[in-house]
Amino acid sequence: MASVLTIRGGVPLTGKVSVRGAKNLVPKAMVASLLGNEPSVLRNVPEIKDVDVVTSLLRLHGVNVGKDPVTGDLTLDPSHVKTAQMKDIDAHAGDSRIPILFCGPLIHSIGEAFIPDLGGCRIGDRPIDFHLDVLRQFGAVVDKHPGGISISAPKGLKGAKLSLPYPSVGATEQVLLTAVRAEGITELSGAAIEPEIMDLIAVLQKMGAIISVQTDRVIRIEGVEQLGGFNHRALPDRNEAASWASAALVTGGDIYVEGARQADLTAFLNTFRKIGGAFDIDDDGIRFRHTGGKLSPLVLETDVHPGFMTDWQQPLVVALTQASGVSIVHETVYENRFGFTQALIRMGASIQVHRECLGSIPCRFGQRNFLHSAVISGPTQLRGTDIDIPDLRGGFSHLIAALAATGTSRVTGLELINRGYERFQSKLESLGADFDIA
Ligand code: EPZ
Repeated sequence: MASVLTIRGGVPLTGKVSVRGAKNLVPKAMVASLLGNEPSVLRNVPEIKDVDVVTSLLRLHGVNVGKDPVTGDLTLDPSHVKTAQMKDIDAHAGDSRIPILFCGPLIHSIGEAFIPDLGGCRIGDRPIDFHLDVLRQFGAVVDKHPGGISISAPKGLKGAKLSLPYPSVGATEQVLLTAVRAEGITELSGAAIEPEIMDLIAVLQKMGAIISVQTDRVIRIEGVEQLGGFNHRALPDRNEAASWASAALVTGGDIYVEGARQADLTAFLNTFRKIGGAFDIDDDGIRFRHTGGKLSPLVLETDVHPGFMTDWQQPLVVALTQASGVSIVHETVYENRFGFTQALIRMGASIQVHRECLGSIPCRFGQRNFLHSAVISGPTQLRGTDIDIPDLRGGFSHLIAALAATGTSRVTGLELINRGYERFQSKLESLGADFDIA
């Protein structure tokens, strides 16, 4: 029986939470271990569902994954990589998008890979055309069939001059995880440069890879025949940090986020200040607080790094429902990331979503039939309601809306939050939230 979280709103969240390794890096570093000829150690690993999914996929392929019971550190031993049964891999279909990143490493180690139908948050169509294009340019043979995609490289994988039409994080990771052991040089232009990408490059360099990040989104990789293992501490989860910061703003609270790093959050901190929040930075974390004054409306556009990150958008939109005036949010990374506003509107928020590009950043979704801009008028009082969580970040935004609302909310679909927020219930408890779970 799915758990139901019953939240009695109106309590400002105050106290301290810690964020550990990034959900958008840790699973990829785990996959990178497949490329080595000796064990790797990954530290600062959060207890989230995506880590469990990749752990079982790696074990299916013969990787020995050990977990330190105290620290949670992972030891990943790729000495006996083997082919896995399609039906077993398929059993993991729908859980995550990570399986697509197994391609390069598996082809380098066992000459073939099978990709089941992919999952991930329903925030857009989320095609994998860039991934398949770059793999073909490395010399891979892509065979689509009803159960998924089989990929092989009878002539091996060779370095190539590649260019991405859009700085996709996943496709850039695909190139990195394939090029490091491909024959010759790979030059990727139009690359993603998110902090998680830089941390993956750090992992691969520790293994023996030769990767240089040049100006203007160009990454150059010199393929090597062999890679060793890594011992790496994953960068902190900036998306979780930004989510708790929005929670402080929405509930009128004061939260110290241990592990949050200013360098990963520059665009977020600017926006947080503009809306009227206050933050204090020290060497171990960042304190986020509502000053007690009115929140200011603003015009916000999501973008690839170093712009305002799309995963920060949904929790911050809840704060904008409490700002005094009209805010505009233009979502330029995903074409369908405003579904979560329906529940907020039911709670009393004033939000209209539009197909037009309401902003200055030219967007792939303009003139196409996507509701990717929102106009938010505030402040409006939020009232408790029943909510079924639609996706990871939308789900967190619903939690903080319920915590700020008058009355009681019943929230279901919590497993979606477990995918990316470690121990969120005990963190809510430690911040004084009034809820129970049944
Ligand atoms: C990663 O997704 C993150 N997920 C996402 O976080 C994040 O929102 C996204 O990067 C952008 O920063 C993980 O790291 C597991 P993309 P990814 O490839 O790699 C289009 C969260 O909440 N595209 O950069 O899947 C795509 O449709 C999640 O933590 C193609 O068209 O994102 C999207 O519009 C949500 N063809 C845009 O590019 C392709 O082949 C960005 O996608 C690939 C992508």
